[in-house]
Amino acid sequence: MTRIAIFASGSGSNAENIILHFRENKGVEVALVLSNKSDAFVLERAEKYSIPTLVFTHDELKNSSKVVDALKECNASIVVLAGFLLKIPEYMIRSYPNAIVNIHPALLPKYGGKGMYGMNVHRAVVENKERKSGITIHYVNEYYDAGAIIFQATCDIDVDDSPEVVQKKVQELEAIHFPKIIESII
Ligand code: GAR
Repeated sequence: MTRIAIFASGSGSNAENIILHFRENKGVEVALVLSNKSDAFVLERAEKYSIPTLVFTHDELKNSSKVVDALKECNASIVVLAGFLLKIPEYMIRSYPNAIVNIHPALLPKYGGKGMYGMNVHRAVVENKERKSGITIHYVNEYYDAGAIIFQATCDIDVDDSPEVVQKKVQELEAIHFPKIIESII
């Protein structure tokens, strides 16, 4: 049995898609959902499927073994970042070499780095009059959005698309591809 731990800071639509994707798969399970926000909607989504959750602070992530202990306790072999907005500390990257995967809502290496998340990304893409955006699924290393790319998918942007419209197009790509790409790398 391969066990996945999902980190998320917000709504958790990607987390829920991954949970649903693996519900019927006997060899893989989402064992734990972790968040740095105690009011993140992702926690409600996890509880709906009876998946254990853990909330931690930024300080606990950086300076304690709370998070890694929980990952070990649930036997997670893959960590998925699904809208997780804190930097993963180096000790965790060393504990999970090539086993931490992130989704970014743009075509890296463009529109990545500190502060580039969620709507900030889509606003920047529209302001720069890009005609394409998309998703990047990549391994996590010690730099923001800079690990090896596993997969990208693109969508067209029309001249009058708002950041909200681009977000919707990107979310559609996330729903189609993210769970399947996780399955393919397991
Ligand atoms: C997703 O669009 C994901 O790509 C993005 O946050 C959103 C989370 O949505 N991640 C980043 O911006 C990371 N830099 P969700 O909570 O509904 O899954």
